[in-house]
Amino acid sequence: MSAFPKLFSPFKLGSLSVKNRIVMSPMETHLCDTDGFVTEELIAYYKERAVGGVGYITLENTAIDPAGRVNNGMLCIHDNTYIPGLKKTHGLHP
Ligand SMILES: Cc1cc2nc3c(=O)[nH]c(=O)nc-3n(C[C@H](O)[C@H](O)[C@H](O)COP(=O)(O)O)c2cc1C
Repeated sequence: MSAFPKLFSPFKLGSLSVKNRIVMSPMETHLCDTDGFVTEELIAYYKERAVGGVGYITLENTAIDPAGRVNNGMLCIHDNTYIPGLKKTHGLHP
């Protein structure tokens, strides 16, 4: 018998359905562009993790204020112009 019998069982988090209990911690990738916008490379990175089987992916450090952007590799969400790119990080699971 598995030491983690629930690891591959689905659960619901509010209205969100998660296919297993494998959670990826937020880890800064520096794959955004120099202005903090989502890039195709960043999408591909998260897509690979989703396809690989991670049930719940926590997006990396994302600046909610320009002053909080401590380096050029940090994603941003302090302005509505960032929303279209960030939306692309959703729904990557097969
Ligand atoms: C390379 C790297 C990048 C990380 N980037 C972030 C980040 O962007 N945001 C964040 O909150 N934590 C970040 N962390 C912390 C991890 O999410 C995690 O909390 C930490 O590695 C401890 O994990 P553990 O409690 O499973 O040992 C980073 C960790 C590593 C190793």
